[in-house]
Amino acid sequence: MSLNAEVLDRVSFLRREIEIHNRAYYELDAPTISDSAFDALFRELQGLEAAYPELAAPDSPTQRVGGRPLAQFVPVTHAVPMLSIQTETDTTAAGAEHFDSRVRRELELTDTSVEVEYVAELKFDGLAVSLRFEHGIFTQGATRGDGVTGEDVTQNLKTIRDIPLRLAGDAPPLLEVRGEVYMCRDELVRYNEKARARGEKPLVNPRNGAAGSIRQLDPAIAASRPLRFFAYGIGAVAGWNLPATQNELLDALANFGLPVCAHRIVARGWRELADFHDSMGEERARIPFDIDGVVYKVNSLALQDRLGFRSREPRWAVAHKYPAEEARTVVVAIEVQVGRTGALTPVAKLQPVFVGGVTVSNATLHNEEEVRRKDVRVGDTVVVRRAGDVIPEVVLVVPDMRPMNEAGLPCHPSFELPGACPQCGSHVVHEEGGAIARCSGGLVCPAQARGALLHFASRRAMDIEGLGDKLIDQLIAGGHVRTPADLYALTVPTLAFLDRMGEKSAENLIKAIEKSRATTLARFIFALGIRNVGESTAKDLARHFGSLAALQNADAAVLENIPGVGPVVAESIVDFFAEMHNSEEVKRLIGAGVHWEERENAAPTGPLVGKLFVLTGTLPGLKREDAKERIEAAGGKVSSSVSKKTSYVVAGEEAGSKLERARELGVAIIDEAGLLQLLQGESS
Ligand code: IVH
Repeated sequence: MSLNAEVLDRVSFLRREIEIHNRAYYELDAPTISDSAFDALFRELQGLEAAYPELAAPDSPTQRVGGRPLAQFVPVTHAVPMLSIQTETDTTAAGAEHFDSRVRRELELTDTSVEVEYVAELKFDGLAVSLRFEHGIFTQGATRGDGVTGEDVTQNLKTIRDIPLRLAGDAPPLLEVRGEVYMCRDELVRYNEKARARGEKPLVNPRNGAAGSIRQLDPAIAASRPLRFFAYGIGAVAGWNLPATQNELLDALANFGLPVCAHRIVARGWRELADFHDSMGEERARIPFDIDGVVYKVNSLALQDRLGFRSREPRWAVAHKYPAEEARTVVVAIEVQVGRTGALTPVAKLQPVFVGGVTVSNATLHNEEEVRRKDVRVGDTVVVRRAGDVIPEVVLVVPDMRPMNEAGLPCHPSFELPGACPQCGSHVVHEEGGAIARCSGGLVCPAQARGALLHFASRRAMDIEGLGDKLIDQLIAGGHVRTPADLYALTVPTLAFLDRMGEKSAENLIKAIEKSRATTLARFIFALGIRNVGESTAKDLARHFGSLAALQNADAAVLENIPGVGPVVAESIVDFFAEMHNSEEVKRLIGAGVHWEERENAAPTGPLVGKLFVLTGTLPGLKREDAKERIEAAGGKVSSSVSKKTSYVVAGEEAGSKLERARELGVAIIDEAGLLQLLQGESS
């Protein structure tokens, strides 16, 4: 086929469609089509671009997935240096006042002159980057580096959906946009949940996550991480009439289709700046990403020019920090906590210390390996950190403050996990190369029973309002409740007798328990507390199977075919339902009236359920589309590339590289006749 108007139309239609679906999926979190329909559009576009290389375009959505891994990054000299910013460490309102009086002094304003106008923005805690747009097309992206020379990370930045590949509207010949790559906390949690399930190392925190992802040579890594971007300034510009103020500049950037944070204000004088600092400090925990302060900038660009720079810092801007999230304190003891799944976690009991706005007296030490690596011992002076909503953690030990005896040896031995569970005495088993230690007691262990109940009742699971840890402790201690199903047998008189409960609260709790009976399949799966199955995996499973029976009957091979489910998660699910007491518990819960709407027939049925096919070459009797349709109708799936997960490669005339790949991997190869046999339910 030669390049014609029809192809051109189709290509531009596909590019537009894909960008719309991308936005719906990544920014609005509201997918508008199924993953497979999206893949089909994407592959069609890739196919057309490959067939007509003259249509290649740097702003095509196919360019987001990036190219091959690089051997090393290429240095980029910034046309306009990327400055740093002066930090105001006085975290009270006086910090804003210092900055304002410095600006007023530099501008030679008298005490009676009008207030200076500023913009107050958030200080995003990620990685600074510069994006170069030439005639509206994103051509190069670089890290800050030392401010003068950074590294070319274009491929990685192109994988970030927030960054437009082409600016909207009337873009100037040259515009460099400065901003921050960051991650949202909840997206990091979801990413980590999946990373753990795949047996990969989780990301430590959003900032490291953002910075680490951008500095990867293989763009596939950046593409797999939930990276975001905010624009907050500009670098080199040509052929554009700059707006008069920073605030209008940000509006203009937003009009070009760049993401600009909504949390910003125009403020007059330092009091309004200090108010912003205060209110964002209160808002901080609810803002979905980490900030480490706010930034004040003189609004007028003309005044910014007049103020100029001192060394590498502009006089017209300052970062006003929040109270330190790290502090020093002393380890009083190291205790071992038992979690919902029996995992043993060493916890440092600390001399109470005020960090990041709250008093902290416990900090997690994660696991035995971490304690050893950091060599945390009783009596040590440690640095603890508390960031956002995250559980406080011990960052490091201050080595020369360790208490020593007369012989010059540490007073306390290095930490060792006990061999028996501190809660129930069951023996401790080590998993995953020894990193995770677990109590083998199951629901016999009160800590695990308690954890399972708390998890079951939690907001994102069965959402039983008012059933908190104190109550659960009493219910367990009184022998009223051992497993989640027992909750549904509770009565008002039983509850009314508990500490700090009256008739009224007992009635309310019973109502809440009743209400929880009507739930969704996703919530129920999550509530079961299957190891490695977090909220988002539970949703994926519910969507895929539609019914609990289908999930219970799925074997590991079927489970592993679900995107996002790796061998670890699959095994956890199979193990869970294979355990007699778990299946019994599920039955009891359903018997107690827990119910949800099941999607009938959502679970694929037919002779090919769980089988993954790849079609290659020309089949003698079946068109490729027909073969695909018939496989899917029989419950099978069709993919375009051969992997270890492929069950069969169906090869016809002139089958090429896919056939070779199948041979390499030892995947079964069949012809059309073999496929027809399988479709009829006969094994080949
Ligand atoms: S403006 C002229 N605005 O803070 C000052 N920087 O040292 C140039 N940052 O790593 C920076 N949020 O990436 C500016 N709203 C914001 C910011 C911000 C975070 C980071 C920036 C750099 C550091 C400045």
